[in-house]
Amino acid sequence: MSLNDAAATRPIICVVGARPNYMKMAPLIRAFAARQPALPALLVHTGQHYDRLMKDQLFDDLELPEPDVNLAVGSGSHAVQTAEVMKRFEPVIDEHGARAVLVVGDVNSTLACALVAAKRQIPVIHVEAGLRSNDRTMPEEINRILTDQLADVLYTTEREAAANLLREGIAQERIEFVGNVMIDSLRANLARAVPAATSVAAAGLDPARIAGAYGVVTLHRPSNVDHPETLRGILDALAEISRRLPLIIALHPRTRASLERFGMLETINVPGFLIVPPQGYLEMLGLMAGAKMVLTDSGGIQEETTALGTPCLTLRENTERPITVDQGTNTLVGVAPQAILAAAANVLEHGGKAGRVPEYWDGRCAGRIAAHLDGWLVARERA
Ligand code: UD1
Repeated sequence: MSLNDAAATRPIICVVGARPNYMKMAPLIRAFAARQPALPALLVHTGQHYDRLMKDQLFDDLELPEPDVNLAVGSGSHAVQTAEVMKRFEPVIDEHGARAVLVVGDVNSTLACALVAAKRQIPVIHVEAGLRSNDRTMPEEINRILTDQLADVLYTTEREAAANLLREGIAQERIEFVGNVMIDSLRANLARAVPAATSVAAAGLDPARIAGAYGVVTLHRPSNVDHPETLRGILDALAEISRRLPLIIALHPRTRASLERFGMLETINVPGFLIVPPQGYLEMLGLMAGAKMVLTDSGGIQEETTALGTPCLTLRENTERPITVDQGTNTLVGVAPQAILAAAANVLEHGGKAGRVPEYWDGRCAGRIAAHLDGWLVARERA
């Protein structure tokens, strides 16, 4: 066996940590296996998210294989969580070897594993590179900037992302526009999406309540849910909207914990609210696909609603995904109650924004990444 052949038998270590990572990784794992010959991969879960609803349910829905390694880091401050992932990830590299370390998105696990790999001089591959909210109070923004600095290959979801990277001194030849891998998952699974009425009934609520039309709400950003005044303002606006349109609220554990801590659980006891637990992937797809509008502070949901053509009101002051506003169905609304009410009234009265699906959000992104990465690794190992 030549040196190059030996390199090719080492796995690409693929890292997931939290819920928004899984829908990006599932198509990649499949695309690596489908190469001829297959690209060996080792799936590592850091354990940043650990609940059945936040992890196992989504692994099942996406047909992701059980992780080969689970680091079981659990919750903690950002420093503790990031440091724990780093400590536990390095021995995985020692044990299994690594041809490259591939990270997706912008969660703490993304940065932690990229940093370990870079210091071990293992190529770092970042999928969903170059997104910027230009808001450094957002923990994900720090993770994005630093992961991109460390990465050897940066795969972008939109062409404009390259400008952000070039501005930060990243060389053009490291950047590759491939499109949005999360939309591969969406397209592959849309036919299996669970109807909203089924999910509502599963939560013990009456599906007749959403028979006319409904909206969907997800909220979990620290900037929205960690401050009682902000959270109360948003919930008051939502309560008002729910008098005209019943709202299904998929309650994130962080948000539930905030409501309990602030003694505000009664604020979600509203006739027009249907409170459901964190949803599975197929359930969430069904909810979004059938909704009159989605109100969210999530990153991924801004993109999924654009792909589905469902109007999305983003309850944040900025977005790292401007293409969803420029081309898609997304409107940046902020968190002022009056602004939320006005934007929702506009959707109810005029039907909301029509958009188009951006370039390369076509369900074939993972194949493009696998082909490019295969060639890049071989070229690097020959050099
Ligand atoms: C994390 C990611 C965020 C992503 C979000 C999706 C970072 C910096 N943030 O934020 O980018 O959009 O996940 O969900 O990486 N908890 C549970 N069960 C779980 C996981 C968490 O109860 O399975 C609790 C934790 O104890 C904690 C809270 O939820 O109190 C927040 O979890 P954490 O992972 O710290 O951050 P998220 O807000 O979920």
